[in-house]
Amino acid sequence: MAGYISEDTRKVTTHRLVEMKQRGEKISMLTSYDYTMAQIVDGAGMDVILVGDSASNVMAGNVTTLPITLDQMIYHAKSVVRGVKRAMVVVDMPFGSYQGNELEGLASAIRIMKESHADALKMEGGEEIIGTVKRIISAGIPVMGHLGLMPQSINRYGTYTVRAKDEAEADKLVRDAHLLEEAGCFGLVLEKIPAALAGRVAHELNIPVIGIGAGGDVDGQVLVVQDMLGMNNGFRPRFLRRYADLHTVMTDAISRYISDVKTSDFPNEKEQY
Ligand code: KIV
Repeated sequence: MAGYISEDTRKVTTHRLVEMKQRGEKISMLTSYDYTMAQIVDGAGMDVILVGDSASNVMAGNVTTLPITLDQMIYHAKSVVRGVKRAMVVVDMPFGSYQGNELEGLASAIRIMKESHADALKMEGGEEIIGTVKRIISAGIPVMGHLGLMPQSINRYGTYTVRAKDEAEADKLVRDAHLLEEAGCFGLVLEKIPAALAGRVAHELNIPVIGIGAGGDVDGQVLVVQDMLGMNNGFRPRFLRRYADLHTVMTDAISRYISDVKTSDFPNEKEQY
């Protein structure tokens, strides 16, 4: 089997991610939302598992990430944590759970950590949420930032196209990245921005920078697991590499099952008591 299995079986921590950046070892990160998938992803040797609010899209079928609730994120996070031994589990704080005020944000963060037993949180935004980020970190909770395309702000942008192409937005992104590092974030996700800008941020910061649609000159990559496994047939953005065609594999298996049931081929004598 082709692949990369780390010989280091120790639990991945924020400290170890920084060490990986320092020695130039790229960080692998992938989403999971349930126990079975998390077991597979962790068993394959993933460094970081993100319980993304993309669960709103890929698990619940919503058009955006906005509808998913704190309770639903905690349900997904608990399921993932039960399946993971080595990877660091990072949970997205959902829309509406931290943008209001600092104490509300802190209360949401504490609920996720207490109830799910995850390792860290991820939050979208820079200067606008920096007070809340600091509060949460001062409570001992590791936070990963998220800049560039921030799907929780889709109604402000109006489109999912590449962000920070103009100078003003790029300058703000660089400032925000430094603010998040100074606030104590242990890592940063950059989504759908020009590769050169992402590379610049990764070189300027000491914390690991993980990209999605942000080119290769960063410290690691993250994708949505259903997308890279080819389960979502219709979703094929340029940045996505599909490592399997599970849509075809699963449709074929399910069609054969239907056919076997209809023709009374399943179950046979060996498949009964
Ligand atoms: O929710 C998510 O899956 C994410 C990744 C796309 C980074 O935030």
